[in-house]
Amino acid sequence: MTVAQAAALLQPAPDYAIDTKKLNLWYGTFQALYDVDLRIRQGMITSMIGPSGCGKSTYLRSVNRINERLGYVRIEGRIDVMGQNIYDPGVELIQVRKQVGMVFQRPNPLPISIRDNILFSHRLHAKGGGDVHPGTPDEIVEESLRTVLLWDKVKDRLKRKATELSLEEQQKLCIARLLPVKPKVLLMDEPCSALDPKGTEAVEELLWELRGQYTILIVTHNMAQARRASEECVFMLMGKVVEHALTAEMFVTPIHRETADYIEGRYG
Ligand SMILES: Nc1ncnc2c1ncn2[C@@H]1O[C@H](COP(=O)(O)OP(=O)(O)OP(=O)(O)O)[C@@H](O)[C@H]1O
Ligand SMILES: [Mg+2]
Repeated sequence: MTVAQAAALLQPAPDYAIDTKKLNLWYGTFQALYDVDLRIRQGMITSMIGPSGCGKSTYLRSVNRINERLGYVRIEGRIDVMGQNIYDPGVELIQVRKQVGMVFQRPNPLPISIRDNILFSHRLHAKGGGDVHPGTPDEIVEESLRTVLLWDKVKDRLKRKATELSLEEQQKLCIARLLPVKPKVLLMDEPCSALDPKGTEAVEELLWELRGQYTILIVTHNMAQARRASEECVFMLMGKVVEHALTAEMFVTPIHRETADYIEGRYG
């Protein structure tokens, strides 16, 4: 354990799972995020909306440090996750990935069995001595799949390849495989965009099940989904956060003209 990690353990749990201060990000000379100050409440579902190219994915990718693998990305500012600055030089990437799980637009299970998909990250983090689910592999597989409401469907075919599942099932599996390493934050970048309405509804139901135990930040282009499936909502435009409010308030009485125009479908 590093000194920074030990110090983080002594801090009381913050109200905000993610606390972003003056985050600026450049891809080469192009600035994609401008002075983003954003605090995401712990245990709640927050949606992030805004027109294509406004920086939603860039922001999400900054919260689990995916952007940094691109050599031409420069980041200024800080992001605290559960009270710890993830850009602190003392914080290791594996520690960030343990705290922050991410789900992408297209489900991306590994081309191995359903069971091994669930156990893959757990094995990795358990080897590194992390605080992971303490159960046996069988218990972990069952509990994770039950949590995402998939157990009854797949319990008789755990050794089958995950890629044989339907898209909805694959996306649920991609959420399930994050859980055994006990993350605090789940980032979801348009997790339903490849799903049909029934699959979308199933994943939204799942989000409500996970709410409370996890902090969920979900990007969506679907206004109805943001409205139904989140408690707070963040509207971004051209790399800036324009508005952040309770979802119910933002959709009824948006403060900014740009927000109103966007949610009423006038652009984007
Ligand atoms: N890897 C990259 N290299 C260079 N520029 C990038 C890269 N990724 C994103 N950008 C640029 O940064 C800006 C923000 O992109 P980002 O993908 O974060 O937007 P978004 O809000 O997620 O859009 P969408 O709704 O289409 O997914 C865009 O102008 C985009 O072209
Ligand atoms: Mg995106």
